[in-house]
Amino acid sequence: MNKIIHTTRELNFDIRQTPAMPLARRILMVRPTYFHVENPINPHMRKADGSLHLLDKAKAMAEWETLKATYKKLGFPVFEADAQPGLPDMVFCANQSLPFVTRTGEAKAVMSNMANDVRHKEVSAIQSALERVGYQALALPQRSSTTLFEGMGDALWLPGHRVLLGGYGHRTHKAIYEEVAQKIDATVVVFELANPRFYHLDTCLSILDSRSALACRDAFTDEGWQLVQAIFPNLVEVSLQESDSPVFACNAHCPDGKHVLLQTGAKTTVAELKAAGFEPIELSTEEFIKSGGSVFCMKLQFF
Ligand code: ARG
Repeated sequence: MNKIIHTTRELNFDIRQTPAMPLARRILMVRPTYFHVENPINPHMRKADGSLHLLDKAKAMAEWETLKATYKKLGFPVFEADAQPGLPDMVFCANQSLPFVTRTGEAKAVMSNMANDVRHKEVSAIQSALERVGYQALALPQRSSTTLFEGMGDALWLPGHRVLLGGYGHRTHKAIYEEVAQKIDATVVVFELANPRFYHLDTCLSILDSRSALACRDAFTDEGWQLVQAIFPNLVEVSLQESDSPVFACNAHCPDGKHVLLQTGAKTTVAELKAAGFEPIELSTEEFIKSGGSVFCMKLQFF
């Protein structure tokens, strides 16, 4: 049952007939107290002249507070994990774990093996935060080039189903999905990420509900794009211009199948979301996009 699907040929069953998973109703965030652009590990962190982006710290804090308030207004309880000095990317708390629920209802999380040494130090801090809210943490085999896994940066649940969509190629190694599939006891569909500007699956695919998604064609291989099209009958293709920084529209987050939180300025995407019956909520995450992340990476949605 726990298949790994790589091609549309292997997708020879109805993915929405797989066993159900509850919906995730809680949000974890990390205050950007020590947030900084100082460890350039993705192409968005540098300006055209090669220098690092300069941050407006006060603006970053205000953007973060607005995002937190937006989740609360939508009815999601927001938990905070303590920010730690020396971990400038910890605010991007989608990346250190993959929370899930077992078939018997226990809350567990697969902890990440981060590609970058500094970022790997964030994992234990997020693990403690998850343990405090009742999660059991599961470790992957020892961190090496073939066991890398960046949690919900690359691994996204199809809402309501025991189906995981997993990206690989930049931060996550393809082979680790065998291990992840066993731990989560779910079907995993894997996608090779073809373009370094879209280094996590959450930079190029935003799952809105079990049938709908935003996605950027340029980030995927031909095979991967066919899979995206096969899984999502209601697919909004986002232009390269609105997908890339400084807009990052595919890093949107739809926490409830209706509201879509995204960086302001994605004009066409916003119009298409409205036409498809969603309610876009535009906010500024400009300071975080200077580090290569927007709404989706700035929170962990957990069960
Ligand atoms: N600077 C961070 C990094 O490169 C940004 C992470 C953004 N997170 C995401 N899920 N895309 O790791």
